[in-house]
Amino acid sequence: MNTLQNRAPLVPETFPGIFWCPDLISTRDLGPQGVEAVLHLAELMKSRPSVFQRALAGKQMVMFFEKPSLRTRLTFEAGITGLGGTAMFVDQSKSPLDARESLSDIAHNLERWIDVIVLRTFAHATIEEMARHASIPVINALSDLEHPCQALADYFTLKERFGDLRKICLAYVGDGNNMAHSLLLTAACLGSSIRVATPKGYEPNAQIVADAKKIAKQTGAHIELLNDPHAAVAGVDAVYTDAWASMGEENEAESRAKIFPPYQVNRELMAQAAPQAAFMHCLPAHRGQEVTDEVMDSDNSVVFEQAENRLHVQKAILYLLLGGAVRLPVRSAHA
Ligand code: CP
Ligand code: NVA
Repeated sequence: MNTLQNRAPLVPETFPGIFWCPDLISTRDLGPQGVEAVLHLAELMKSRPSVFQRALAGKQMVMFFEKPSLRTRLTFEAGITGLGGTAMFVDQSKSPLDARESLSDIAHNLERWIDVIVLRTFAHATIEEMARHASIPVINALSDLEHPCQALADYFTLKERFGDLRKICLAYVGDGNNMAHSLLLTAACLGSSIRVATPKGYEPNAQIVADAKKIAKQTGAHIELLNDPHAAVAGVDAVYTDAWASMGEENEAESRAKIFPPYQVNRELMAQAAPQAAFMHCLPAHRGQEVTDEVMDSDNSVVFEQAENRLHVQKAILYLLLGGAVRLPVRSAHA
């Protein structure tokens, strides 16, 4: 039967108190408890990958991507393989996912063969609709609105570097885009401080900001929206930027290139952050635009740590959504 009723964790007691959710479309699906669970699991998986190598044995993942990808595609593929499952990739860059048949019909095919669907789309609504129809988990691998998997890997990287995320402040400087949205929601869930500085007219989505502020009320997170990049980075522990024109906005690249230069992360801007402040970028970077070579290649740049951690966080997300089983090592009575 194509019902959503069987969407329950296979092994809910895998880790005591572990969080479970049916889909990861938005960071809001995880909430504070789910974000903590992902970071905790990712830490376990990074430190002891061999314990989890059969955790999702026999599980099959399919990815449909309407936009290009290096990191997200390969870390999902390596991630499920590292957990004992298999991956299939469908290049959807030539036509939208629903060009040939309805999303509902696609969902009711996929759920007969596959265990999890990973989507990278233009419209966020495409991912929401697939999840509404499919009885198997759906994961957002980037939409125009959010990039939840990336922001989870970013805060995992910050946790490794700084420890207590409640004590740090991150400044995001640039376009109020999918990356800004997911960082805002993730910081809110973790009780962390975040400042987002954008040009006027490029502020983050009002509903995302309202939702992040609502979550922040429960967790004690601090959220500030500004237009001044210098005020945003003053004394912060991490400075983050992203493309001025995201995938699908290529026709605006020229007009945006005239507006965004004051938001470039360069040596002068980094000098206003804390002395050991991390530089962060989801990649791909447009060197010479949103960031200079000097900052990208500096000792404080953690961009490749972020990229590495995509793998561990992707594994944690897959495990969490698929209710994976794991054989924990038997401890000696004398250990
Ligand atoms: N950061 C990120 O999502 O990279 P890709 O577009 O290469 O997947
Ligand atoms: N904001 C960028 C993120 C790329 C990972 C984009 O959507 O193109």
